[in-house]
Amino acid sequence: MKKIAGSLLLVCVLALGACQKPSVNLSESGIIPLPQEITNASGSFTLTEASGVKLVGNSENLTKVGEYLAENLRRSTGYPIPVSFDTGNIILELGENDGSEAYELEITEETIQISSSGEAGLFYGIQTLLQLFPAEITSENKLSADWEIPQGKIIDSPSYGYRGSMLDVARHFISVEDVKYYIDQMAKYKLNYLHLHLTDDQGWRIEIKSWPKLTEIGGSTEVGGGKGGFYTQDDYKELVAYAADRFITIVPEVDMPGHTNSALASYPELNPGVNLPDGDFTTVNKQELDYEMPLKNPQASELYTGIEVGWSTFSSRLELTYAFVDSVVREISEITPGPYFHIGGDESHVTQKDDYIYFVERVQDIVSKYGKTSIGWDEIATAKLLPGNVAQFWAKEENAKLAIEQGNKVLMSPAVKAYLDMQYDSTTRLGLHWAAYIELDSAYLWEPSEFSTGIKKENILGLEAPLWTETITNRQDINYMVFPRLPALAEVSWTSKEKRSWDGFSKRVAQHGKRWEIQGIEFHKSPKVTW
Ligand code: ACM
Repeated sequence: MKKIAGSLLLVCVLALGACQKPSVNLSESGIIPLPQEITNASGSFTLTEASGVKLVGNSENLTKVGEYLAENLRRSTGYPIPVSFDTGNIILELGENDGSEAYELEITEETIQISSSGEAGLFYGIQTLLQLFPAEITSENKLSADWEIPQGKIIDSPSYGYRGSMLDVARHFISVEDVKYYIDQMAKYKLNYLHLHLTDDQGWRIEIKSWPKLTEIGGSTEVGGGKGGFYTQDDYKELVAYAADRFITIVPEVDMPGHTNSALASYPELNPGVNLPDGDFTTVNKQELDYEMPLKNPQASELYTGIEVGWSTFSSRLELTYAFVDSVVREISEITPGPYFHIGGDESHVTQKDDYIYFVERVQDIVSKYGKTSIGWDEIATAKLLPGNVAQFWAKEENAKLAIEQGNKVLMSPAVKAYLDMQYDSTTRLGLHWAAYIELDSAYLWEPSEFSTGIKKENILGLEAPLWTETITNRQDINYMVFPRLPALAEVSWTSKEKRSWDGFSKRVAQHGKRWEIQGIEFHKSPKVTW
């Protein structure tokens, strides 16, 4: 042993420091979200021109996963990094292919091995590995650096199964390219659900072939009066596939019965008949309606470009409303492989309570008919939920508890912690503050299962961080609001509470700041962190 150690030392001296220990241990490498278990070892692994990815196992997507890793190593190193089933010192080993998100990562002097019984687990192991390399690995251009990482072992798995973010593409339309960019950012932090808020008062953003005016009219503007936009069904399919390659499932939302002005502006017949040409007014009196609104010359509402909420509603007792919802849910479900359809349901302030409940219950049935599980904002729990449906807690604890009492799960997005559109403080140039100012430490320092008495871990599906876009118009704005809070929330959803500490996170996030700078991401330099 002595002799081997001695000769190793000699080689190291001759190679002018090539065998030096990397400057940090594995446990100080700045991984976000923090893995559940990290074991340090001495020494390092160095990526070289001769490195390659070796695939072990059998699955449709294994090559794609290997290529994802190789591509992320090639860009900045300029090394060829071949991917094959024969040879390579970075081994991706897939076991049973059972969909697991857990993985193990072992780094020795000669090899790196990532093992998982799921493709997703391998993908998350890859994200961890990429974060171990020097920050320059994130460069789009070839750079020279010591591509060295510390030896050791990581055993990791997520705390919550649903780890999401939401993009409001309705208030301001967000291009396909920018949604793909967002998906790439989410993937780096092991998030696995992207909720697209596709419709709201200001815009309808998804093509519905059987109701074409939704996008023709309803998609033609946005907050502030810009030109808006929409996704064709082919665009949407492209996003679904792009996300799936990064183990992210898209959750489409059609917000209803409130937040529906863009639909009501597109189709007059969805509106209650008011203000008839002869000066008569239709009486909207439910006792006389017999569940059918007496429509006479209904008029389309005006397009809306402001940011008030809670003033629009579908006509809950009008059969045409359900024919419309049926078509919308059918067409979107057909191009959505994921299990969930989000029905909105928030802030229906001008919908009568019993109309609201009647509407939510009928829409849940439609969603279920097309094979999907409904998620809705917490207000939907005031209706009878179908088994398995999910209430997304954003505002009212008592609503979340109603869901739990019915045996349903809650998705945690409390606005005071998880809303990415809230300003950091009163000086933040973007965002709103009706729920709170959310500095980075506030976004980090909470645990979903302790947020509210009566909402326990077993009641929680996971965590989602929504980005509403009343004040957000482009990629630069998105970057500023989500970095560094999105990684903080990703860690809250992935890493068990016992392992997390603000002190640890604030040191690790500072290392990510360097990565964001290399990528040209202008992030919020929280005063709580020494960057
Ligand atoms: C919401 O923020 N209205 C769900």
